[in-house]
Amino acid sequence: MTKIAVIGGGKIGEALIAGLVSGGVSAKDVHVSNRRAERGGELTEEYGIVDFTDNRQAIDGVDVVFLCVKPKDTTAVLAELSDTIDNNAEDTTVISMAAGVPLKSLEDVVSAGTPVVRVMPNTPMLVGRGMCAVSGGRFVSDAQLEQVCDLLDTVGDVVVVEENQMDAVTAMSGSSPAYLFLVAEAMIDGGVNLGLPRDLASRLAVSTLTGAAHMMLEGDLGPSELRANVCSPGGTTIAAVRALEESGIRAAFYRATQVCAQRSAEIGRMSAGSAGAGDDDED
Ligand SMILES: NC(=O)c1ccc[n+]([C@@H]2O[C@H](COP(=O)([O-])OP(=O)(O)OC[C@H]3O[C@@H](n4cnc5c(N)ncnc54)[C@H](OP(=O)(O)O)[C@@H]3O)[C@@H](O)[C@H]2O)c1
Repeated sequence: MTKIAVIGGGKIGEALIAGLVSGGVSAKDVHVSNRRAERGGELTEEYGIVDFTDNRQAIDGVDVVFLCVKPKDTTAVLAELSDTIDNNAEDTTVISMAAGVPLKSLEDVVSAGTPVVRVMPNTPMLVGRGMCAVSGGRFVSDAQLEQVCDLLDTVGDVVVVEENQMDAVTAMSGSSPAYLFLVAEAMIDGGVNLGLPRDLASRLAVSTLTGAAHMMLEGDLGPSELRANVCSPGGTTIAAVRALEESGIRAAFYRATQVCAQRSAEIGRMSAGSAGAGDDDED
């Protein structure tokens, strides 16, 4: 069985652990390391995994290491792990989940030949519906990349992309659950504005978003056709769609995805220019 270490059991680290364990990975083969012992204790209690506060001990003898700390901490944490990675009997694959941090910055702080993979995950991993985009570094074999994809497959969908697509991927899947939560929130407020109780408005909005997502995933029709199909001539839905278009919904998404990708690129430049990426607290 593959032995796994997760460095940083925050939102993404926990989503990964939850997905791996519920996807059939044995909890005793999953190590987590945090600076705060209380956080490790919480994760152990919830998922039955093994917790550490020493990152080097956590990765001793493991096959893969997932780096789930903030982008500004990622290269420094990896540099601290380099000797232990070298001392592991088998090749240890390093997988960075950090937004913006390029493969080159990661490869620069470990010994030449260390297999490094960059992943852009998202938080729906917590419920086994994540989207992970994966790019392999210079020293990753096809078998190692496949092993990483197989592990991530337990927490949702996986796609292999070119590294130069990662900033756009961050805008499309890494950060986008937040856009959809915002859409849900706005719909709920719309319902409350119409006089519905908040819990009823919430149930209607969330259930509809979920149903629409399933139609896009499971049916043969794409979003444009699905939307056209529910817009009867002169009806209620086309009136609402027109109001959304006039309010700039499309322009808002063009702009949001563009600034998100730009921010990801900025974080990458900062991490390439120094050991840390400044004090920004970014996802
Ligand atoms: N959140 C998202 O939706 C999202 C989406 C895509 C990608 N990402 C990427 O995922 C990574 C993690 O993000 P997050 O949202 O999960 O952040 P987070 O919730 O702040 O979690 C970071 C975790 O790292 C731990 N940590 C910090 N320094 C450490 C160190 N030196 N050694 C060991 N553990 C350390 C922190 O806990 P202690 O301080 O208690 O140790 C904390 O639990 C980021 O690089 C981000 O770019 C996040």
